[in-house]
Amino acid sequence: MLNLQSESFYEDVLFEEKYLSNEVQSSLHDGYRLYPLRANDYERGYLDVLSVLTEVGAHTVESWNTQFQFMKKHNDTYFTITINDERTDRIAATGTILIEHKFVHKNGLVGHIEDIAVDSTHQGKKLGIKIIEALKYIGQANGCYKVILDCAVKNIPFYEKCGFTPKESQMAWYIPPQEKSNL
Ligand code: ACO
Repeated sequence: MLNLQSESFYEDVLFEEKYLSNEVQSSLHDGYRLYPLRANDYERGYLDVLSVLTEVGAHTVESWNTQFQFMKKHNDTYFTITINDERTDRIAATGTILIEHKFVHKNGLVGHIEDIAVDSTHQGKKLGIKIIEALKYIGQANGCYKVILDCAVKNIPFYEKCGFTPKESQMAWYIPPQEKSNL
């Protein structure tokens, strides 16, 4: 049966609400609410929040919609969540978990946490830790055997507080723009 109490019933959401942790939802302070990414989060300043993390690029509503619809088509893989400041109807924090299907561990699933960002005016209010708890819940709900992430050394103490432990090293290869595929 459809839940008509749920505001997001009326909106285009990235994934089903059953993946949202009730425990995290009920632990948020008044005025904050946890959501799956919503199609109109562009207007709620989603990309502004992401810009505390890295360069976001010059988006238009169309480029936002293209990406949102791609992720929605693959919404057994892409789980992006937000914590919205309901008083201003602006995004306060966001994070993503990608679910990877592997052959190892007998068709095991691994959750990759990416793009954690808390708006600078909301940092230090425990929203970062709530986003991580909510993403860990999604990883567990999907049946992942582990959840992993890469982070800057300065953020290690934050992730340790979220229950993660350092493991091995991060490596990266940035592809020079002139060598990008044109297939
Ligand atoms: N170093 C040490 N401790 C920290 C740090 C830090 N950089 N950030 C938070 N903490 C501690 C807090 O003091 C708090 O400790 P307490 O529970 O003992 O009081 C605890 O971690 C929880 O802090 P929150 O209030 O939940 O942190 P916040 O909401 O500010 O979010 C975050 C932390 C995500 C790092 C935020 O500051 C941010 O968006 N930074 C810029 C973007 C960024 O670096 N994102 C992470 C990228 S890595 C990735 O995406 C996988």
